Amino acid sequence: MSLVATADLIADACAHGRAIGAFNVICLEHAEAIAAGAEQAGRAAIIAISENAVKFHGGTLAPIAAASAAVARASSADLALHLDHVASDLLLHEAAEHDFGSVMYDASTRPYSDNVAATRAAVRWGHERGLWVESELGEVGGKDGAHAPGVRTDPVEAAAYVAATGVDGLAVAVGSSHAMLDRSAMLDHDLIARIGAAVGIPLVLHGSSGVPDDELQAAVRAGMVKVNIGTALNIAFTSTVRSRLESDPVLVDPRKYLAPARVAMAEVVAHALRVLAP
Ligand code: G3H
Ligand code: ZN
Repeated sequence: MSLVATADLIADACAHGRAIGAFNVICLEHAEAIAAGAEQAGRAAIIAISENAVKFHGGTLAPIAAASAAVARASSADLALHLDHVASDLLLHEAAEHDFGSVMYDASTRPYSDNVAATRAAVRWGHERGLWVESELGEVGGKDGAHAPGVRTDPVEAAAYVAATGVDGLAVAVGSSHAMLDRSAMLDHDLIARIGAAVGIPLVLHGSSGVPDDELQAAVRAGMVKVNIGTALNIAFTSTVRSRLESDPVLVDPRKYLAPARVAMAEVVAHALRVLAP
């Protein structure tokens, strides 16, 4: 219980044919909600802090990392800390100064050979420090890289990329897309199975807020092991805050709207964890 290694949660999910949910933190309330949701569901979870979230906090990793780790340590659930979508080598190297068990090194916007070289170096650096390292075979236009509608990971290219970089987990493009506000994404389950067989390492689904429950469960059956969810928490958070403020024009105490918003996010987390590990 409390702060655990990402690699252990991934290994456990693999061993039981389940997936582990990774949820993105923006504010302290997100971390608290992830812990509360994991406790409610009786499941483990991953608390993910993205490079964008660090930028939101003035480019300083320490406060949000320390707060998230403290929340994990105080929880009765098994929680790991993950640094997400890291494009900056400076930020990557900061991970070692905190309590991260894993990092997603994101060189996906670079040309293939640069991606491979930078990711191989990041993997070597991470492994020397006991970190589980995720990455993605990038390319593809659009701000979401491989996580845009219509983009698909090729199993043969993915196998070559994994062999060349030594990554522990691979983010794949199989039909999901970042920041969807509705849950209408349809995944290519056959492709998930084929990529999994080709690469032989755990697969990671990004942009999972837009994927319906039954599609997520089919993806897990096909071999998806880590499922990243961010926007769904923010939909719950913001809609709750909006309705509280609209219903009480003289409300000024943030606790009055942040508390129910945190409860709403915890419900999203608990539901997702039950879907991913029935
Ligand atoms: O890495 C984070 C995830 O891919 C979150 O995506 O906000 O669309 O759920 P989402
Ligand atoms: Zn992502």
